[in-house]
Amino acid sequence: MSNMANALLNDWTTRDGIYFPRDGAPVSAYRQQWEQEAAFDHVRSAIATTGDGREDFATLAGKIGEVWQRFPSDQHIGTVLEIGCGYGRIPLYLSREKKLTCDRYFGVDIAETMLRHFLRYRAAFAIFPSAQYSLICGSADALPLPNDSVDLCLSSAVFLHMGKQFVQRTLHEIARVLKPGGAFIFDASFPNRYCPAFWPTRALNALSGRRPPNVLKYYTRAEIARRLETSGLTRKASGYRISAASWMLLPKNVWRLSVPGARQILRIAILRRASLIFSTFRTRGATLGVPFLERYQKDILKDAKNI
Ligand SMILES: C[S@@+](CC[C@H](N)C(=O)[O-])C[C@H]1O[C@@H](n2cnc3c(N)ncnc32)[C@H](O)[C@@H]1O
Repeated sequence: MSNMANALLNDWTTRDGIYFPRDGAPVSAYRQQWEQEAAFDHVRSAIATTGDGREDFATLAGKIGEVWQRFPSDQHIGTVLEIGCGYGRIPLYLSREKKLTCDRYFGVDIAETMLRHFLRYRAAFAIFPSAQYSLICGSADALPLPNDSVDLCLSSAVFLHMGKQFVQRTLHEIARVLKPGGAFIFDASFPNRYCPAFWPTRALNALSGRRPPNVLKYYTRAEIARRLETSGLTRKASGYRISAASWMLLPKNVWRLSVPGARQILRIAILRRASLIFSTFRTRGATLGVPFLERYQKDILKDAKNI
């Protein structure tokens, strides 16, 4: 684990409302890639759909996954940590649509450009208005937070872009900072290695040698389970379920060309099962501090049987 993981936020420096590491480590190609994408179109960088410059709620909270849509309403949480928070799409949705409130919110993102947008939207949309805020510009594999200090950790569409060794270190870090019995919820994180919808793009990327540092990484279900176990996360947030978040058989797009019928074909139930993609992982175990998540988990387990 790097030294940064042991450095608490007090050792960091702030610039215009954002925390940065004091040591000013060199900017990696990976971070540069995220900065460039965010500068080009931050909505597109977050959800792969262009916002065309619109900054209304519907655009900014676009493509909200089922795991967030089913989040229970009117809850209050002590400390929330978000990994790869981007411009704040998930907290914007939870705060506004689910009336979630918290005492303290930590948002970690590697791209300063994203965090600058987050600061604007926080003011414009009153995201968690009563919370004490810390936006942290750094890599999630070294969290400047104390052990056992977070009640709820969130992440959406981040792990799938990270190198696998960084994902593993991040899972360790989440396990370290989570309170015993805390909860961790994330979606769109682990694209299924065997899902045929990804094969054309993967083959084209391999043939063309195109491999940006944040290119998607693919997983098997067994690999996800192994990583969650070895990180210590499953001991901290006891019990978990790896479940399907979406289904695909044909790719929706191959590079910039859309594939006709890709969505329609999934109306045939048997094909839907055949093309199972388990890109969501949800934990149970939130009995301490956030008991409402137990009910939430029961609902999700009930539904998982229907997949
Ligand atoms: C696809 S975007 C998703 C943003 C946001 N979670 C959402 O769902 O709207 C991925 C975000 O993760 C951030 N990110 C990627 N790797 C990271 C890392 N190692 N540590 C912290 N943030 C990271 C990127 O800068 C980007 O903002």
